[in-house]
Amino acid sequence: MTGRVTGRRAISIIGGTFPLVFAFYAYRLHGMTDYINDYGPLQRSLLYLVMAGVLAWAGLAIDVLWRNKSGRAGAAAIGFTWLMPVAAIFLTVGFASYILVPKYTGGGDVPPQLILLDTPAGRSVPNLAVSFYTAAASKNTLLWGEADGRLKAVTERSAVRKHWFELAGLKPDTQYMYTLNDSPAVRFRTPPAAGETFWFAAAGDAHVGNKTSDPAATERILKSISKPTNGYSLFFDLGDTAQLGFDNGMWQTAGATFSPYTDSIPTAYVAGNHDTMLGGLDLYQRYLGVPSSDGEEAPLWRRIDCSGVHFILLDLEWELGTYVPAQKAWLEAQLKSIPQRDWTIVLCHTFFYASGGQEDGWPWYDNKSVIAELTPLFKKYDVDLVISGHKHQAEILQNDGVTYVVAGTLGGRPDTILTYKSPASHWLKQGALGFADVTIQGSSATVAFRGADDKVLFRTTIAK
Ligand SMILES: [Fe+2]
Ligand SMILES: [Fe+2]
Repeated sequence: MTGRVTGRRAISIIGGTFPLVFAFYAYRLHGMTDYINDYGPLQRSLLYLVMAGVLAWAGLAIDVLWRNKSGRAGAAAIGFTWLMPVAAIFLTVGFASYILVPKYTGGGDVPPQLILLDTPAGRSVPNLAVSFYTAAASKNTLLWGEADGRLKAVTERSAVRKHWFELAGLKPDTQYMYTLNDSPAVRFRTPPAAGETFWFAAAGDAHVGNKTSDPAATERILKSISKPTNGYSLFFDLGDTAQLGFDNGMWQTAGATFSPYTDSIPTAYVAGNHDTMLGGLDLYQRYLGVPSSDGEEAPLWRRIDCSGVHFILLDLEWELGTYVPAQKAWLEAQLKSIPQRDWTIVLCHTFFYASGGQEDGWPWYDNKSVIAELTPLFKKYDVDLVISGHKHQAEILQNDGVTYVVAGTLGGRPDTILTYKSPASHWLKQGALGFADVTIQGSSATVAFRGADDKVLFRTTIAK
């Protein structure tokens, strides 16, 4: 066998193996089963990659069989056996570069945000954390306390990149302040005590980094939500904060967009499919993840009890691909433990009921698999309100005594296709950006949707 033939066969083996190994790696990434099931373009890209690998192996088989049969390979067979593995290698390198280069380049600082943590037993307001990231490890000092009291200084023990200053033991309805190193002081007010009226805001799908997004509207909305005189105590970001979660630079831009506002309103993020897509989970955890008390990565689902209201944050990014057994068991246990008379509010990225139409190979309306799996639990345990994004429209729906709010309206391009009206739909507005505004007042709640100009577009009242 000549050196040329050996080289050709070695290339075939590499060309046959590379794409299949890479496709398997991609398939195993967080959230990929939903992407592959629901998103036509990615489905096709991975299919082409697998086909290129299989054809490279077929080329090798033809090469071997042809040679054994005739003693020499024909020009066409030789061409095929060169072309297939080379094409497969190019395709794999191209695909891998697309997702890995932006992930490992362009990292920078993300300025401070005020992140909601869990609520210690016996307290009515959650702990908070001042969280930020520096590309170079650094050691920082935070001065914090009640605005009219004595401030205490906390200095990090060593130089780190992910910075996490926990503000524990907070009193309700109290003005606090913090100063990071020599930066100007930031003031914030803690949520009220249990039983008091309180407001919170929620919206998702800013899609920072996408050319079709509207970052000016995102900022206007965040400004309304964080404006002290508007009185919101909490902000929930419903995911798809970054357009491509595997692109480090987009997380820097998202941080620069959000932090001027989320540094002064207690904020919690849920993960969206865009945030964690194609290996973006690492970056999501780096910039927005909440570490657990033992320093390990905490799960993407958690519960925040605030002012007597129970918020359940789930990792549901599209369908059930991220709804792993541990999350399912955790959810049932939480719902079981909450007294029926209390307000229970679920927040997650994907929607349950929604009106819409077919797009990119998936029906963007009543999300059948999550409806079938989760809504019986909501009914059984008396969940009051479910707020989600993923669908870029504003909609309020009701089914089985549960109110569903869709508010994927934080800046990503609005959806416009409407060929299906959900039977659960109560009010729908396509084409508008804005946010959900919820007031809890004793046994009733007002659910409103405000536009990017802060004006109320719809308002309804629900009873506990
Ligand atoms: Fe989205
Ligand atoms: Fe989404």
